[in-house]
Amino acid sequence: MSDIEKLVAEATAEFAGISEMALLEQAKARYLGKSGSVTELLKGLGKLAADERKRAGAAINSAKERIEAALNARRELLRHAALDAQLRAEALDITLPGRGQGSGGLHPVTRTLERIEALFRSIGFDVADGPEIEDDFHNFTALNTPENHPARSMHDTFYLENSPGLLLRTHTSPIQVRYMETHKPPIRIIAPGRVYRVDSDATHSPMFHQVEGLWIDENVSFADLKGVFTDFLRNFFEKPDLRTRFRPSFFPFTEPSAEIDMSCVFCEGNGCRVCSHTGWLEIAGSGMVHPNVLRHVGIDSEKYIGFAFGMGPDRLTMLRYGVNDLRLFFDGDLRFLSQFR
Ligand code: PHE
Repeated sequence: MSDIEKLVAEATAEFAGISEMALLEQAKARYLGKSGSVTELLKGLGKLAADERKRAGAAINSAKERIEAALNARRELLRHAALDAQLRAEALDITLPGRGQGSGGLHPVTRTLERIEALFRSIGFDVADGPEIEDDFHNFTALNTPENHPARSMHDTFYLENSPGLLLRTHTSPIQVRYMETHKPPIRIIAPGRVYRVDSDATHSPMFHQVEGLWIDENVSFADLKGVFTDFLRNFFEKPDLRTRFRPSFFPFTEPSAEIDMSCVFCEGNGCRVCSHTGWLEIAGSGMVHPNVLRHVGIDSEKYIGFAFGMGPDRLTMLRYGVNDLRLFFDGDLRFLSQFR
C-alpha cells in the first residue's frame, strides 16, 4: 500500500475511533489543517517533475476527498448519536395514567356573598365597593366615632406603619360614607368586603367579611329595617318561619341602634349547643343612621333619614353549611374547600 493509501486508512480508522465532536475536529486538523499531513504532501508536489507531479497530485486530491468524506460521515453519525441520547434522556412515558383535571369551585364565603347580593338586588339594592386600606376619617371620624372610642385603639385596629392616618378598615361602614359623598338620596346599597381586626380564635379571624346595608330616603323607618332584614334572612336560609329579634345596642353612627338576632336555624329556637341554649343567634348590628353622619357627607338630615346594618357573611356561611370553626374557611385546605364545589 502506498504511503497515501496508508494515510487514508489511518485517518479513516482514527475518525471511526472518536466519539466526541471536539476530538474529531482536532483529528481533522492533523490531516487537513494548515500543517496537516495531507497539506504537507500537497506542499511537497513542487519538488516533483512535471509528469510525476500530475500523477501524485491526482492521488493526493483523491486521498483528501476520501478523508473529508470519512470525516463528514463520522460527524453525521456523532450528531445523530447525540440527538438520540438527548431524546432518550428527555423521554416522556406517555403510557402513564393521567392525573385528571381538577375542576375548580367557588369558595363557600363567595357563594354566600353572591347569594346575599342576588337577594338584595332583587329588592332594588345596588352593590357598592370601597378600599380595604382606609383613612381615619372614613373609618371613624365621619362615622361619628369619638377620639377615645375603644375601636380606635391599637389593640383593635391594624394601623399602617409609616403612614399616619391609614389603617386596614375595621368594618364596611366607611363604604356608606364614601357612597354618600358621591351619590344623592335615594340611596339603596349593600357593600360586601373584607375587614380587619386584631382578633383570632375559633370564631374570630384577623381578616373576616362584612356586608353593609344602607337605605336613605325621605321616609325610611325602623319598621323598614325590620322588614327588609327579616325578609332577607328568611330567603337566605329558606326558612319562612325564621324569627328575628332587635335588641337595643349602641353604635356611634346609628341612633337608635340594635343588635339583630335570629331564631336558631338548628333548633328552631328551642335551644341547642350552637345557640348556647338561648334559641337565638346574633347576626348583625344595625340602626337608624345618625344625623351627624349625614351632616359629614352633606346630606340634609332634616329631609332624609334611613337605616344601616352590618352583618357577618362568614357567620351566615357557617350556619348555612354547619361549619363550626371559622378558621377552616381561611386555611386554604382543599380537603375542606372541595366539599363545597
Ligand atoms: N359597623 C358595625 C360593626 O362592625 C356594624 C353596623 C353597621 C352597625 C351599620 C350599625 C350600622 O360592628
